[in-house]
Amino acid sequence: NNVLVLNGPNLGRLGSREPDVYGNQDLPALLALLEGEAPDGTTIDLRQTDDEGTLIGWLHEAVDSSTPVILNPAAFTHYSYGLRDAAAMVTKAGIPLVEVHISNPHAREEFRHTSVISGIATGVIAGFGFDSYLLALGAIARIKR
Ligand code: DQA
Repeated sequence: NNVLVLNGPNLGRLGSREPDVYGNQDLPALLALLEGEAPDGTTIDLRQTDDEGTLIGWLHEAVDSSTPVILNPAAFTHYSYGLRDAAAMVTKAGIPLVEVHISNPHAREEFRHTSVISGIATGVIAGFGFDSYLLALGAIARIKR
């Protein structure tokens, strides 16, 4: 039981990037949090890239391996139709894909109020810091029961 936890651009800088918005914990801390709370037998495959094509390739991989996805598309959320189309292949294959955000984009600048991903996601969790990912993991576990 594998879960892909995919992170888009600039999220590799967590810990030092805008700590007032994103906190001061980094991606290794996120991995430790998720591994600590994952149900028995669930492995967390956490990845980050600044590259749109790489992220799209990972979604293709999720389709081919029927692996559930927790996706923080970061800035791609707001404009990447290529990422949306790849994410749609995941959910149309009946595989859960939960869109997550650390911050609550709706409480921020206007351009963050639009997500081109949400319309094809299984569900969206935003605004709970790293707990957004934990809640997504719980949601995926409940879907699978
Ligand atoms: C984000 C919100 C996006 O608007 C932003 O571009 C990010 C991070 C979040 O997790 O809160 O990079 O996805």
